[in-house]
Amino acid sequence: MIKRIAAVAVALSTPYWLPKAVIGLRVKVFAQVNGPEGVVVPDERVGPDRFAELYAHPAADGRSRGAGLSDLFWYWLAPGPEVHQEHLEPGPRYDAVARTTSAILAGGSAELSAAATRCAAAVLDELGDGEATLVRLRDLMMPVWAEFFYGLVFREPCPPLARRLIVDNAEDVINSLKNTRLRHMDRRARLTRYLLRRLAAGEVPHELPAELTTPRDRAHYLQGAFFNTAVVQMSEAMAHLLLVLAARPDLQRRLAEHPDDDHGLGNVMNETLRMYPLFGIAHRITSEDIDLGDGIGYPAGTVLCFDYPAYHATGYTDPERFDPDRWDHLSVKDAHHIPFGVAANRPCPAWRLAPLAMRAVTREVLRRFTLHSSVSHTRSIPHRAPCLLVPRDRPLPRHRIAAVLAFLRLRDRWEDVGRSLLQFGFGSWMVLDARRARPAERYFERHDTQGRALESAAPMRPGCPVGAHRTAPGGGTGPGPAAGPPPD
Ligand code: HEM
Repeated sequence: MIKRIAAVAVALSTPYWLPKAVIGLRVKVFAQVNGPEGVVVPDERVGPDRFAELYAHPAADGRSRGAGLSDLFWYWLAPGPEVHQEHLEPGPRYDAVARTTSAILAGGSAELSAAATRCAAAVLDELGDGEATLVRLRDLMMPVWAEFFYGLVFREPCPPLARRLIVDNAEDVINSLKNTRLRHMDRRARLTRYLLRRLAAGEVPHELPAELTTPRDRAHYLQGAFFNTAVVQMSEAMAHLLLVLAARPDLQRRLAEHPDDDHGLGNVMNETLRMYPLFGIAHRITSEDIDLGDGIGYPAGTVLCFDYPAYHATGYTDPERFDPDRWDHLSVKDAHHIPFGVAANRPCPAWRLAPLAMRAVTREVLRRFTLHSSVSHTRSIPHRAPCLLVPRDRPLPRHRIAAVLAFLRLRDRWEDVGRSLLQFGFGSWMVLDARRARPAERYFERHDTQGRALESAAPMRPGCPVGAHRTAPGGGTGPGPAAGPPPD
C-alpha cells in the first residue's frame, strides 16, 4: 500500500522535478559533445562593471572562424549560414551586407508603425468575430511579422503563398533552435527557391551587396536576415511582452486605458527585455590579444561568451522581480541593459525599428482583446506562450476565465514533462549531427574570411560542404548544414 502511494506521489509530482532534471542532463550532454570552450562573462575576473568594456573591445570582433560553437550556430540557421549577417567575419563583405540591412530597415517612425498596425490588424481579423480564442502568442505573431518584413523587402503587400513559406521557414528555425523539433530543410529550401525566382525576375527593389556574388548567396542573405532572424526575434519578443501583460491584469488595464502612454509601455518593454533577453549568450572570437590591465588578458583566438541574462541581473534592486516602474528612475544608457547588443560591436540593426513596431502591434492587440494566461514564463519560452484572447467588447464572466486559467496551468505543467524529454532527444541528436557536419569549420577550410575560395583548399568531397544537398535530420532534403544560436 505504502509503495503504491509512493508511486502515485512520484508520478503526480513529475512536472515539478522531471523537466528540471532533463534540462540539467541536456546541458551536460551538450557540454560533453562540444567539449570545453569559451570564457563566459561576467565572471570573477571581468565583473559586470567591465563587461561592456570587454564586449566593445576592437579585438573582440571574430564571429565564426575558430569557434566550435559556430558549427552549432551555423547548423541551426541553415541554409546559407555563411552569408548570414550574424556570422560574417569583419571586412568589406560584412560592411556591405550591414549597410544593405540598415537601408532595408530604414523608414519614418509613423510609416513603420502604420505598417506594423496594418499587418497586425490583418492577422487579428482572421481570428473572426467568435467569442474567446485560445492561442499560442508566438504562433499568432509569426504571420504578422512575415507580412511586415515581406513588405520591407518587396515594398508590396504580402501574398498568402509568400506568408506561408516565410512562416514555415521561421517556425522551423525557432523550433529546432529550441530543440522542440528537428530541422526540416525542405521547408526552408522552398522559401529559398521562391526568393531565387523573385530575384531572377528582378522583383527585389533594393540594391543588394555586390560582394554576395551568386543569386543563391543573395537569396540566402534575404532569407537569413529578414525571413528568419527578423520574424523569429520579433515573434519571440512579442510573445514575451504579451505574456507579461496576460499575467498582469492591472498593468494590462493601465496600458489599454491609456494607449498613448508611450512612457508606460516603454517601461514595460524595457523590463520585459531585461528579464527575458532574446539572446542567452552572444559570442565573439578575439582576433588579437586583449589586455584589460590589472592582469586581465585574453590571447588571440579566445571565444568570449557574453551572458545576457547574467549581466541583466546585476546592478538592479531585486533583479528577479518584474518591476516596470524601476525604469522611471533608471536610464537605459547607464543601466546594465543591452537587449540589442552593444553599440560599439555589431549591435542589432533593428534596435530602432523593433521597439517602434512592437509598440504598434501591442496597441492593436490591446485595442481588440483582453489577454489572460497562467502558464510559466521563462526566457526560452518553449511553450510558445499559451493565452486566452477575449474580445474587449464581449467580456467573459469571471468564473469562465478562472476555469480556463486553471486548465492552462495544469496543461502547461504536463506539457512541460513531455516537451523536456523531446528536447533532450532532439537536442542531443542535432548537437551530434552538427558536430559531425562541422559546417563552419569545413567552410573555413576552403574559404577566407571574405568568402573567397582558398587556392590551397583540397577539392570538395561530395556531400560535405555547406550548400550540398543531403537528407536533413527532419526527414526532408535541402541545403546542408547551417546556423543558429545555442539551445535554450
Ligand atoms: C526585439 C527584437 C530583437 C532583439 C531583442 C534583437 C537582439 C539582437 C542582439 C542582442 C543582437 C546582437 C548580438 C551580438 O552581439 O552578437 C542582434 C543582432 C542582430 N540582429 Fe537583432 N534583435 C531583434 C530583432 C531583429 C530584427 C527585426 C532584425 C531584422 C533584420 C534583426 C537582425 C539582426 C542581425 C542581422 C544581427 C547581427 C548584427 C551583426 O552582427 O552585424 N534583429 N539582435
